[in-house]
Amino acid sequence: MASTHSSLLLSSLLLLLLLSFSSGQTRPKALVSPVRKDSATLQYVTTFSQRTPLVPINLVVDLGGRHLWVDCDTNYISSTYRPAPCRSALCSLADSDGCGDCFSPPRPGCNNNTCGVSPDNPFISTSTSGELATDVLSLSSTDGTTPSSPSTAPKFLFSCAPSFLLRGLAANSTGIAGLAKTRVAPPTQLAATFSFKRTFALCLPSTSSSPGVLFFGDVPYKLLPNVDASQSLTYTKLLTNPVSTAGSYKQGEPSYEYFIGVTSINVSNNVVPINKTLLSIDENGVGGTKISTAVPYTVLETTIYKAVLNAFRAALSGIKTVTPVSPFEVCYNARDLGSTRVGPAVPAIDLVLESESVYWRIFGANSMVAVSEEKLCLAVVDGGDRPRTSVVIGGYQLEDNLLKFDLATSRLGFSGTLLFRRTTCANFNFTSSA
Ligand SMILES: *[C@@H]1O[C@H](CO)[C@@H](O)[C@H](O)[C@H]1NC(C)=O
Ligand SMILES: *[C@@H]1O[C@H](CO)[C@@H](O)[C@H](O)[C@H]1NC(C)=O
Ligand SMILES: *[C@@H]1O[C@H](CO)[C@@H](O)[C@H](O)[C@H]1NC(C)=O
Ligand SMILES: *[C@@H]1O[C@H](CO)[C@@H](O)[C@H](O)[C@H]1NC(C)=O
Ligand SMILES: *[C@@H]1O[C@H](CO)[C@@H](O)[C@H](O)[C@H]1NC(C)=O
Repeated sequence: MASTHSSLLLSSLLLLLLLSFSSGQTRPKALVSPVRKDSATLQYVTTFSQRTPLVPINLVVDLGGRHLWVDCDTNYISSTYRPAPCRSALCSLADSDGCGDCFSPPRPGCNNNTCGVSPDNPFISTSTSGELATDVLSLSSTDGTTPSSPSTAPKFLFSCAPSFLLRGLAANSTGIAGLAKTRVAPPTQLAATFSFKRTFALCLPSTSSSPGVLFFGDVPYKLLPNVDASQSLTYTKLLTNPVSTAGSYKQGEPSYEYFIGVTSINVSNNVVPINKTLLSIDENGVGGTKISTAVPYTVLETTIYKAVLNAFRAALSGIKTVTPVSPFEVCYNARDLGSTRVGPAVPAIDLVLESESVYWRIFGANSMVAVSEEKLCLAVVDGGDRPRTSVVIGGYQLEDNLLKFDLATSRLGFSGTLLFRRTTCANFNFTSSA
């Protein structure tokens, strides 16, 4: 009964969001925004436009984040900001934690009789409470080739957060773009607003000098020179972890992060001996593999970590290791490793998925990080012996790979390194055709 009621409520709300899309605009096929790598924090930062008048806001990308939040305490000026009234449909859409008043003069982030949610900063493992609100959000439309005219969602649902929640984030960012599979995170909310498919794609840059790209919607994802990165993808199932992995969550709530089913790991075409139990998600939500932009390098449970390092060293046994640089433990002199189009010539690491023919192959460009001019280290870190999630695939391993998240069919399409196709994530043509 309750669930029928709430799903009715939700469909009417989605309809409302839909109708609120102003009829003066042409309906975009997809939206696009740049994603920069911040060299100080190794975070990935995207830029949206929000408020009236519109201002660009820099948001750190958190694939596992529940929603979009911004600091409303500092310089939030907008004539179209509206707090979400207590017990409104917006509150249920956002799975609000409750209602409250604010005992200071009213301003964005501080209003009476509004509902709140829990904005989370995974970089400092901190959540707090924040007012739920709507405001104008604008992104460039795209056909997948170049950005064109801006498309505007007049009532985009997000949350406010106090300024202290920005701690640990890249300079000049004012919040986090949570891209998880919730109804309110931008992928689903923008799809509902503009009636396009619940699909988005992330292509992280490997350099801070030019931006990678984030697409919402399903179009050919074009990278110069004329590579359609939506083609030749390998698909794997997105899994649901039955227990939330979030900083704060409700009893019984499943995780809204992106888990995939790694079944074994190969190094140089040999199976790495690891405890397979750690690769599956148990009834308490422990184990398994997720994809995260909240960690710069892949994090492996200790026994998996040691086994992968041993296999890697063994496969490169002809080459001398050098004094490692923390947090890494296996390093080589760059001169001792050959170089290839796909990075330093090192053994490939395969994440084998649902069958032997479905695997994510990681080459040197994504496995070896330069810690100095002459030293390269295997870019994985030790996650300790009882981590919640056994394998967390981090940012460095995702760079110059296109990831297409199809939320309607719960599938992840991945390109493998784009370097083989003579392009990179920094090759989207951001020169507007509008
Ligand atoms: C909320 O209501 C209280 C009590 O009526 C009042 O003191 C306070 O100023 C109000 N706060 C805002 C933000 O309107
Ligand atoms: C932050 O913004 C200021 C002023 O807009 C700019 O000068 C500075 O380069 C920016 N810093 C970064 C890290 O983007
Ligand atoms: C993994 O290694 C095993 C044993 O060598 C091999 O049979 C299998 O094909 C490999 N799988 C992949 C995806 O490399
Ligand atoms: C494999 O891992 C599971 C889960 O941590 C643990 O219960 C089990 O004892 C491990 N098996 C071996 C052989 O170490
Ligand atoms: C990028 O897009 C602009 C606008 O459509 C176009 O004029 C330009 O030729 C494109 N650049 C390349 C390298 O294709």
